Amino acid sequence: MKAALRTVVIDVSDLSDEVSDELLRDRLQPAVEILKRGGIVAFPTETVYGLGARYDDPQAIRRIYEAKGRPADNPLISHISSVEMLKVLTREENFDVALLSEAFWPGALTLVLPKRPEVPDDVTAGLDTVGVRMPNHRVARELVHLTGVPIAAPSANRSGRPSPTTGQHVLDDLDGRVDAVVIDRQPLIGLESTVVDLSVSPPVILRPGSVTKEQLELVLDREVVASDREENVPKAPGMKYRHYAPDVELVLYRTARPGDADHSLMSIGEDAVGLESYGVIRLESEGSGGDSEHGIGSESAECSRAVSIDRPLSRAVIRNIRDLDDYASSLFHQLREFEQLGVERIYAPTVEEKGLGVALMNRLRKAATRTIDF
Ligand code: TXA
Ligand code: MG
Repeated sequence: MKAALRTVVIDVSDLSDEVSDELLRDRLQPAVEILKRGGIVAFPTETVYGLGARYDDPQAIRRIYEAKGRPADNPLISHISSVEMLKVLTREENFDVALLSEAFWPGALTLVLPKRPEVPDDVTAGLDTVGVRMPNHRVARELVHLTGVPIAAPSANRSGRPSPTTGQHVLDDLDGRVDAVVIDRQPLIGLESTVVDLSVSPPVILRPGSVTKEQLELVLDREVVASDREENVPKAPGMKYRHYAPDVELVLYRTARPGDADHSLMSIGEDAVGLESYGVIRLESEGSGGDSEHGIGSESAECSRAVSIDRPLSRAVIRNIRDLDDYASSLFHQLREFEQLGVERIYAPTVEEKGLGVALMNRLRKAATRTIDF
């Protein structure tokens, strides 16, 4: 084991959206200096936190892989702060790139494009393509802009763990392993970007995210293929690994009686017989039986009300989720929180694979060991 680093924490969450660019820049300066000198810095994007290094410093890039414990064959996404910066990474300037960047950037869409030879192999894991996105988060874009070059950044979690959606998640996984963490408290989308391969025709969605297949097809006015199904050779190397998984077993449940909360809790309880405690994520919009007086209104997902039901043998800790967006933004947080509470198993509902539901089910399947039906 190497001696731990001292990780510098830069908290900008007291700065409101309205604060001048100058003030934000002042606060980000230490992180920018670290990045310029080849250090590695975690920072928020609108999807999840990323762990970044300048794209043109192979030694810094290798430190990212080391800090995360990431397999070397899994390429990184390069983050840009302007469409202009795309030219540093690729020569490709076709119509599809123009349409998609215009429609979705800054935003949760990563484009896989033929790379320039100058882009180091360490960034692309030896592939001849590079993943690029312009994040829709002020902190992320300012960091890239001030550093002056694209910032390569995977999600800022230890490899295989749920992606981090708070600064605390990043510290839990990487404190002492990275040079700095920039923390902001804005709620995030909570699922990683949609990755679409434009180096092939028709374009292929390598990882579903909040930008959906339907939205992509509408903008491109042509077919886009979803490659979400488990294949033998996934093209996004990252998709072949077990992912997003908490240290506690995750079990999915699919109910034929979504309005019947009692039925769900009883069925889950039967599956959980013999456990001391387990966590349940419950989707209120799927119907919550007679429990509607407990509607949780508009508080953030992280404040979702917890209910404990004492049974003779097991204790169920229940987290109520309002709707699909709430589920997406809080899933990784809930998994980590249940883990910290020390429950022995987590139960999470399946959702319909439509819109954001496609991305959510993709992450749930990769994190879960089995599905129960009742
Ligand atoms: O929202 C996000 O995408 C976040 C934030 C930080 O930007 N990043 C993120 O990075 O989720 P990461 O490394 O956890 O996932 C990147 C995914 C992996 O599945 C990787 O294999 C794929 O994108 N990818 C990256 N470059 C690729 C390329 N050239 N060809 C195919 N897949 C690529
Ligand atoms: Mg990741």
